[in-house]
Amino acid sequence: MERLTSVALNPSSAGDEQQFEATLRPKRFSEYIGQPRLKASLQLAIAAAKKRGEPIDHVLLYGPPGLGKTTMATVIANEMGANLRVTAGPAIERAGDLASILTSLQDGDVLFIDEIHRLRRAVEEVLYAAMEDFKLDIMIGKGAGARSVRLDLPAFTIIGATTRTGAVAAPLRDRFGIVHRLEFYSAKEIRQIIGRTAGLLGVGIDPKAAALLAERSRLTPRIANRILKRVRDFADVNGDGIIDSATAEAALDLLEIDRLGLDSADRLLLSVIVDHHGGGPVGVETLAALTGDERSTIEDFHEPYLMQIGLLERTPRGRRATAKAYRHLDRQAPKSGNEQPGLL
Ligand code: ADE
Repeated sequence: MERLTSVALNPSSAGDEQQFEATLRPKRFSEYIGQPRLKASLQLAIAAAKKRGEPIDHVLLYGPPGLGKTTMATVIANEMGANLRVTAGPAIERAGDLASILTSLQDGDVLFIDEIHRLRRAVEEVLYAAMEDFKLDIMIGKGAGARSVRLDLPAFTIIGATTRTGAVAAPLRDRFGIVHRLEFYSAKEIRQIIGRTAGLLGVGIDPKAAALLAERSRLTPRIANRILKRVRDFADVNGDGIIDSATAEAALDLLEIDRLGLDSADRLLLSVIVDHHGGGPVGVETLAALTGDERSTIEDFHEPYLMQIGLLERTPRGRRATAKAYRHLDRQAPKSGNEQPGLL
């Protein structure tokens, strides 16, 4: 049960739920709740591009999983009236794979590359000229007879998504005209998203229950929608299908999601730092070994939220649990060392 819950909540563990998510995704800016700064900057870029009759500049979106990078790419393509093509860094194995994608694009198309930090170097190098000049340099033949041919490509827009900008090589990052971080949502925005999704699913939810789910959704829309779906199942089986606070509370208990939205894997991570390492600092590799999680899962999924709500600190020497983490785990904080009044 412990691992199941955490796997289910981790937005990077996509399964057949992707289909479900896609149907709930907003398609236009007018339906998209939250990320006001990003929306304003994209709306301006789109209006200007449309006026000039050009595609918009390449866009790099970064931030923790589940905050709406793919959704935003869909919205951008729809607002531009463009086709959206979707791929991911690890899926483009060779320069030739990228060449075949690029030569099949049409004028104005949007190409979304998820996990763009995982592109191979040889593939990345082909992308540079393509992004800058809409040209594709390909080698024909081998050895002494090999020659390079330059092909014209249609004018297209790349939208790259990554959980970490630090992992995107600087020459690639520099070729994006618009670079934006997706922020965690406010509890109010998550409440609105839950209300919207409940409406689309045709499920009744009272405002108190919506607030309760919002508090425990890690400020992340994808998690809010997943929790809502599970709580709806619970209400269908154990009640009359309407989600009230009592139903929400009981379902969240069953899912082992606590009042800060932590799942069992988050609590295990914190308790390893607190109980086995005196509150830290502890290296992330040690944490990965002790919890059984991948280092990337800890870094991309667990840590951003734990840091956002002030339970964890990243220091040059490793991770440290804050005094608030001790209180949340119901442990006695040490007299000195872990007291960080700024985070209380
Ligand atoms: N569903 C998932 N993310 C959303 C968002 N940002 N706005 C509205 N509905 C959503």
